[in-house]
Amino acid sequence: MEKYVIEGGHRLQGEVVISGAKNAAVAILPAVILSDEPCTIENVPNISDIDCAIKILLRLGAEVRMINRSTLYIDPRKIHSHTVEYDLTKNMRASYYFLGSLLGKVGRADVSLPGGCDLGSRPIDQHLKGFASLGATDTMEGGMVHLTTDHLTGGRVYFDVVTVGATVNIMLAACKADGMTIIENAAKEPHIVDLANFLNSMGADIMGAGTDVIKIRGVQYLHGTQYSIIPDQIEAGTFMVIAAATEGDVLIRGVIPKHLESITVKLQKIGVSVEEYDDSVRVRGTGHLQKTSIKTMPHPGFPTDMQPQISTLLTMAEGTSIVTEGIWDNRFKYVDELRRMGADISVDGKVAVIQGVDRLKGAPVKASDLRAGAAMIIAGLAAEGITEIENIHYIERGYEDIEKKLRALGANIKKVGIPEDGLLKQVR
Ligand code: EPU
Repeated sequence: MEKYVIEGGHRLQGEVVISGAKNAAVAILPAVILSDEPCTIENVPNISDIDCAIKILLRLGAEVRMINRSTLYIDPRKIHSHTVEYDLTKNMRASYYFLGSLLGKVGRADVSLPGGCDLGSRPIDQHLKGFASLGATDTMEGGMVHLTTDHLTGGRVYFDVVTVGATVNIMLAACKADGMTIIENAAKEPHIVDLANFLNSMGADIMGAGTDVIKIRGVQYLHGTQYSIIPDQIEAGTFMVIAAATEGDVLIRGVIPKHLESITVKLQKIGVSVEEYDDSVRVRGTGHLQKTSIKTMPHPGFPTDMQPQISTLLTMAEGTSIVTEGIWDNRFKYVDELRRMGADISVDGKVAVIQGVDRLKGAPVKASDLRAGAAMIIAGLAAEGITEIENIHYIERGYEDIEKKLRALGANIKKVGIPEDGLLKQVR
């Protein structure tokens, strides 16, 4: 087991380059299955969720080669299986994208229901409703979803909630279905648009991605492509908050500023300086943070995946801030850890009331999920004294080389192994 040890209180300064988007990459890798030729995918983030996706592709029979640190060559032509077992899915929520891609490719998919972050109830009813509209039937046995169809046909799907996962899954299944699929109330996140661009670059016929109606005309053949994944909106947003929390001055490079707008607007309201350039943003902490109110919403609203990070910043802002979680039932677990660092937060259901304090104080804490882990890093960098963060495997699911990137900005952070308890060893 490893943990991060952070000595807080250093102003972070310099430049950081953002990696490829996790949530686009975890959709694009399963999408390669649909191709009839090999593909080369660039700007793939080096994170453990991608390791999981690669393992699944290999087990299904694909050839996967690393051309360099961020480029993958994937040849799906020798795929011989439509089954993804629990040992491969339990650590990666997005493994359920193999349902849509395998169904679209061979008309069958057996995929064990995934694990991933515990943010509250994570049903897949909208995915199954969408697959049914395309002519698939589903059964569930031993935690595994089985999908079958004799003939996948285009259909009309209206989602009862805006869902990223179901939008991706139906896009994947519909690409090669017979006829036109229309998805209404679709998710509009940047990674939905990136997936559509990727599929279209292979010859798919998808229109409207980025709006709430997506139309997909099925095609018979998808050719190989070379495609570069968009930069990670949430990694960029996390570094923006880190700059603000440490009163730093950081140029965050290789981003699409339009994707960061909702984060930029809130940071400016809090009193942080954000300057936008073509493919970078410069964020400077001004030393005086002010309260604000935030509600997380589907894109283009404020992203839920930035909620723990911005809430952590607000623990150090003057006045009382209100943060409402609009997507997940249970995304305030990290609050107990922040309280141990001196934060003043009360939570009632999906609403947190944050009373700003002057300074957080270092403490041993645990990451309870990926973004909660990012929040602990922000708190540790801003706090007085030493913070030790356990369960960092959650953080490594989604942030490439985070401690190296932080060290290059002047942070005092290191990864250390946790030795087995000496006392327990004597007893055993
Ligand atoms: N929902 C349903 N039924 C469904 C599917 C979703 O009721 O069939 C509900 C969920 O319970 C939730 C809401 O709809 O309340 C939105 O869920 P969504 O399907 O959009 O979430 P997801 O696809 O499982 C992705 C990201 C999450 C991010 C959410 C919301 C990926 C791999 N994951 O999850 O990212 O929080 O969208 O934007 O793209 C993260 O990166 O830390 C992360 C958790």
